[in-house]
Amino acid sequence: MLPRRLDPGPNVMITTVAEISRRRTPTDDTVVTLQGWIYNVAGKGKLLFLQLRDGSGIIQCVCNKATLGDELFDVIKALGQESSLEIDGLLVADTRSKLGFEVQVTGARIVGPSDGYPITPKDHGDAFLFDHRHLWFRSKGPHAILHVRHLVVQAIRNYFDERGFLLLDSPIFTPNACEGTSTLFETEYFGRTAYLSQSGQLYQEAGATAFGKTYCFGPTFRAEKSDTRRHLNEFWMVEPEIAFIDLEGIMDMCEDFIVEVVAHVLKHGRHHLEALGRDIAVLERVQKPFPRMSYDEATAMIAALAAAKGDPEFTAVEPEDDFGSRHETELTQQFDRPIMVHRYPTAVKAFYMKADPARPERALGVDVLASEGYGEIIGGGQREDSYDELVRKINHHGLPMEAFEWYLDLRRYGTVPHGGMGAGLERLVTWICDVKNVRQSVPFPRTVTRLTP
Ligand code: 4AD
Ligand code: MG
Repeated sequence: MLPRRLDPGPNVMITTVAEISRRRTPTDDTVVTLQGWIYNVAGKGKLLFLQLRDGSGIIQCVCNKATLGDELFDVIKALGQESSLEIDGLLVADTRSKLGFEVQVTGARIVGPSDGYPITPKDHGDAFLFDHRHLWFRSKGPHAILHVRHLVVQAIRNYFDERGFLLLDSPIFTPNACEGTSTLFETEYFGRTAYLSQSGQLYQEAGATAFGKTYCFGPTFRAEKSDTRRHLNEFWMVEPEIAFIDLEGIMDMCEDFIVEVVAHVLKHGRHHLEALGRDIAVLERVQKPFPRMSYDEATAMIAALAAAKGDPEFTAVEPEDDFGSRHETELTQQFDRPIMVHRYPTAVKAFYMKADPARPERALGVDVLASEGYGEIIGGGQREDSYDELVRKINHHGLPMEAFEWYLDLRRYGTVPHGGMGAGLERLVTWICDVKNVRQSVPFPRTVTRLTP
């Protein structure tokens, strides 16, 4: 048994709601002690119906004045939402409850009272709720989303661990940009300038040449001033990198990876998705193969959609430009599963992308765009493996050559075709849960306007 902070005395079996929900056969009259917080309480004469939240679930505890005595009954009745307490009682079968059980309370010890808890069952605005994020995630919705996040993390680790990838953590302090110089968080580093990592990719490229297949999975930072439903300034990314692979191979992996992650959540977290009202059928359709199309095919499709809609807010993609979020939304709404768009213009993509030998103005990169208008969840592709080309691109992008000397070594000593991808954890979770804002998928969001709590 786990160590306990509070010892209720001998012969008392402390249990949890999760433990209770695992029981299959209703065994009346089991004596239990639960430790938790009051989620809600409703009274009816000599009865109190207390919803006890213990972190693992919620169970109804019925207090009867005749059993508890006037004094204890009144003390419990006066407790505010989120007061903490220990409850002793009998576990009895209850067919009306989803759990199959309720507790008939025989005793209680108040641990920490709570008065005026700010988050009540009434509607609160988003700003208020995020100001109270440290309390808000006691509530059912955030609880379900953060459980799904946990499952997605688990699925990600399983996916790469089971396929022979070595976990190789990339550093967070870095001397150079990876994804463009306009979104770097700068910090002072013992008299030098360092940046918070935008991506662990370059280090994984070193990893792939040493170990064949590696991945990192950790926080990354972008100083972009986009306060949108898709952007965080601190987010988690998983970045696998593989030696001896081409763009097609990367696309196969992206597709396979997403199918596995979604299947894991469906298998282990269906109840959380149901609690969120997620349309499960949409996730069940996430099967291989995903539609694949080139940037040129995708822009032609977007142009046709824009022409058909006649909405001044929705116009075709400017020639050789990147997609806007509206473009991604309209395009992905045409499909019932994620799509893969490859070969974007080299000009709009990062310096490390390999140009398509058949058409140097196109990069061997891919973006995976989620269904239901969620937009990009993965970016990846094949890397420039030629020393000369890479030097040319570093110069072309105006990047400081000295910071990339180590990276160029990977092309000096046994360069090979290689590639990988980066999947944004919060973007994945937001899409899987079908919630409106990526901030809901991280415990403590960091955005342009938010650094607290
Ligand atoms: O497309 P990005 O910028 O790609 C890279 O960083 C590559 N170096 C990855 C690689 O090939 N190893 O970012 C990858 C993913 C995006 O598809 C998105 O899911 C997520 O990271 N992402 C963000 N998530 C939340 N907020 C932001 N501001 C994000 N920027 C990127
Ligand atoms: Mg991208």
